[in-house]
Amino acid sequence: MLAQMPRPHGFVPTMGALHAGHSSLVAAARAECKTVSASIFVNPLQFAPGEDLEKYPRDFEGDIAKLEELGLDLLFSPDTAEMYPPGFSTSVDVGEMGNTYEGAVRPTHFRGVATVVAKLLTIMQPDVLFLGQKDAQQTAVLRRLVRDLGFPVEVRIVPTVRDSEGLALSSRNAYLTPQEREAAPTLYAALTAMRLLLHQGMTKDAAVAQAKSILSPLAQLDYLDLVSAKTFEPLSALQVPAFLIGAARFGKTRLLDNLWITK
Ligand code: PAJ
Repeated sequence: MLAQMPRPHGFVPTMGALHAGHSSLVAAARAECKTVSASIFVNPLQFAPGEDLEKYPRDFEGDIAKLEELGLDLLFSPDTAEMYPPGFSTSVDVGEMGNTYEGAVRPTHFRGVATVVAKLLTIMQPDVLFLGQKDAQQTAVLRRLVRDLGFPVEVRIVPTVRDSEGLALSSRNAYLTPQEREAAPTLYAALTAMRLLLHQGMTKDAAVAQAKSILSPLAQLDYLDLVSAKTFEPLSALQVPAFLIGAARFGKTRLLDNLWITK
């Protein structure tokens, strides 16, 4: 069936519980491609024991309604046994890039992401892969996967969708208490302040220190840093393209955000 679908074919991998961020990826694919497909698969390989795999939000009916409205042509929603039958033992590891920042906090995470996306690309055979900028390190890891293994697919990165206060939409926002929800936009505010300070010529260390003071006292910061958009290695001074990346815990919920800097 896939072979007969008009090309280009754009593919949007997701873990479901779809929100306007996911919709923007499907809309970007719809605008560019003749065939648009998506997957919904809560990938156990990218969750470590004790993470939120079991309680990860799921809303299959709601997701289908949203995807239909967006004009999706094809949905792939396998169960775990279909993706990982007994004896499944292969994994894809992108090396050092998967071990820093998110990879340092979640050591098996990017191996799980790269493995599932490699398998999804093999099954779906798209021409264009749509990813959200929201998960900056994931975009770098998956670009590297595509390049190193020679998947015949182009990668598009779609800007982060935010709410009116600047909070990046995320399925995990649903875990925030009302107080944490109020404090959460300070992560974006800190990143925005840091971008301004760097553009004004402040050193990275001074900009990080000042940006930290903007964070809510409810935020426990994991990292705030400036990295190369391509290698995800830390930069000591502004050099484009770069990502300003931040991760903080608000209570039990860990939120990520970033800004993409091109000039
Ligand atoms: P998931 O978290 O469901 O996200 C699916 C896609 O939506 C990712 O490319 C993500 O970056 C994008 N996305 C999430 N929030 C967004 C926002 N606010 N604005 C724009 N895009 C947003 O990321 C995953 O699933 C998984 O790791 C996956 C790639 C599917 C592999 O399992």
